[in-house]
Amino acid sequence: MTDTTSNQMWGGRFAAGPDAIMEAINASIGFDKRMAAQDIAGSRAHAAMLAATGIVSDSDAEAMREGLLTVLSEIEDGTFEFSTALEDIHMNVEARLKEIIGDAAGRLHTGRSRNDQVATDFRLWVRDQLDATEGALLALIGALLMQAEAGADWVMPGFTHLQTAQPVTWGHHMMAYVEMFGRDLSRVRDARARMNECPLGAAALAGTSFPIDREMTAKALGFDRPSANSLDAVSDRDFALEFLSTASICAMHLSRMAEELVIWSSAQFRFVALSDRFSTGSSIMPQKKNPDAAELIRAKIGRIFGANVALMTVMKGLPLAYSKDMQEDKEQVFDAADNLMLALAAMEGMVRDMSANRDNLEAAAGSGFSTATDLADWLVRVLGMPFREAHHVTGSLVALAEGKGCDLPELSLEEMQSVHGDITQAVYDVLGVHNSVASRMSYGGTAPELVRAQVARWKEMLG
Ligand code: ARG
Repeated sequence: MTDTTSNQMWGGRFAAGPDAIMEAINASIGFDKRMAAQDIAGSRAHAAMLAATGIVSDSDAEAMREGLLTVLSEIEDGTFEFSTALEDIHMNVEARLKEIIGDAAGRLHTGRSRNDQVATDFRLWVRDQLDATEGALLALIGALLMQAEAGADWVMPGFTHLQTAQPVTWGHHMMAYVEMFGRDLSRVRDARARMNECPLGAAALAGTSFPIDREMTAKALGFDRPSANSLDAVSDRDFALEFLSTASICAMHLSRMAEELVIWSSAQFRFVALSDRFSTGSSIMPQKKNPDAAELIRAKIGRIFGANVALMTVMKGLPLAYSKDMQEDKEQVFDAADNLMLALAAMEGMVRDMSANRDNLEAAAGSGFSTATDLADWLVRVLGMPFREAHHVTGSLVALAEGKGCDLPELSLEEMQSVHGDITQAVYDVLGVHNSVASRMSYGGTAPELVRAQVARWKEMLG
């Protein structure tokens, strides 16, 4: 709806209200209402500081702080009427405060601007989101550790090029994701530490002539310190971009794992069974059980990457300090955050619920000549062959087995010796998949003993 009068917050020099299209393109209330709690927390801290520094009276500040709580409860219980004419959450809250407490509300905006206000609110929102992401990552890591511990010695094929390479353990594969999500966790923590500076008091761009106490507001809002440069404080959004890039990397990890779950749950692989709780059926094919959650996680990376690129593009080339372009920061971050949280929770649920098919994993682990490297290593270790020659001899044995349509352990000793006369019965010890994984004892290797040690290390680290 178009207001015929000029804007009550900044309309002093305007004779007419905005065109309907102007109002539509200008308003952010449709989405920035999600920052209501942060906006009110920021305003309450600001009001307390204005009183402590003698800029407003204690009674005015008290009225503001109480009134703001009333506004918050109206928003929370859904009775607040948002107005597009009032553009954004900041002016909606202030206008309602005026209705509740009268003229004292007009003193709240002393020594600040919407520019430092929005920068503060958005930082608080992103900070909350980083904390929520940390919790979700910890839960996912917990689920992976549970799987890794249960299957520390279950064997499965390890792949390169999605071709069978060498046997690995289920636990080792799970722990690979623990490492990845663990780095995501540390990126989240780094981002939080770096972004925890308070822009409030930077005002429009230059600071203010009022004797404000920025340390006080920073502390009240849980920031480590006030930001040191007012131009920077109101005009950068690198904290949001750090969230989005951290979210993108994490989404990329989620997407890779989701892809593996899609493959592993297929009839051709049957490595895992996903629980009914995280699968869907087909409306036409009764036998189907589809890994939709994994597919959607795999797909969601697109919008999270997209948000990162979109905000990068908004910010590039913007002159200092604030420009209205920056209002476009929020929807991208909100959407990416919502989808990241959903993807993390869905992955955690799938991982927690899925059951690995140990027999199928083991059968697959031994196929595809997966212990060929063990055979070559045996030729080096026992017969003293140079590795290159051992590689060649093993290649001939693989070709022999392939021709006969069998796996390496099924070749007879005579057949082995037809390729190289010095091979002995002892070679069969290294052709088994369990021996193969147990022998991978180099630090970071797949041996069950090492997997268990890594599980214990992570558990201790996470407390
Ligand atoms: N809704 C605005 C935003 O999100 C608030 C800041 C407006 N500042 C201004 N100078 N018009 O960026």
